[in-house]
Amino acid sequence: MSTSAQDYFEELEEEIRAHPALHHPFLEKFRQGKLSLDRIRIFARQYYLYSRWFGRYVAAIIANIPDERPRAFLIKNLYQEYGEEDPANTHPAIFRRFMDALRLDPNEVEETEPLPETRLFIHEYLFTCRNGHFIEALGAMGPGTESIVPYIYRPIYEGLKKEPSLKEDDIEFFPLHMTLDVEHSANIKEALLEYAEKEQNQKLIKQGAMAALSARTVLWNGLERVCCR
Ligand SMILES: [Fe+2]
Repeated sequence: MSTSAQDYFEELEEEIRAHPALHHPFLEKFRQGKLSLDRIRIFARQYYLYSRWFGRYVAAIIANIPDERPRAFLIKNLYQEYGEEDPANTHPAIFRRFMDALRLDPNEVEETEPLPETRLFIHEYLFTCRNGHFIEALGAMGPGTESIVPYIYRPIYEGLKKEPSLKEDDIEFFPLHMTLDVEHSANIKEALLEYAEKEQNQKLIKQGAMAALSARTVLWNGLERVCCR
């Protein structure tokens, strides 16, 4: 007998909360304020390479969802990613304000060579969202990404608050997502409910979520390697 969709998500969420990607030493070191300003700059450069394309990942999933009702939830998320019609407040633009405060030039950052770990992380998102089964991609984006943001951005935000040269407005990207992504995660769960009754779809959701979390663990490994030497 297959588990009901609600029970399935409860079990999956519990497993995700215990995943190493949420408890990585890089996050703990960041939280403790162990990253110098130069190391925070390295983090920002690498993270922008992923973050600037977040809309592309979501848009790719939207293009692959065959059904209207679940597709609408993702469109709502994407609309918010683009600042709800205010071009100054697209999420990449909010991240660029963080980079401005760090005296980083976004054009120059876009030319930055990603770390091997960052490259793998970005590739995982582009590939799964464009070429994966849409249910697997929703698993990667919802339970595997949006749902963990409050857990992974809090230590980063706390660490950034310890850097005296950064003001609250400069680091808005992080607390903004700690609340907004709870909503985005709920929207994706809502989109997945009609599929999540079937066991084969439950497998796809989990596969996507775990692949995204593994890739994120690799991203943190790389950042720990270069930021916490
Ligand atoms: Fe965002």
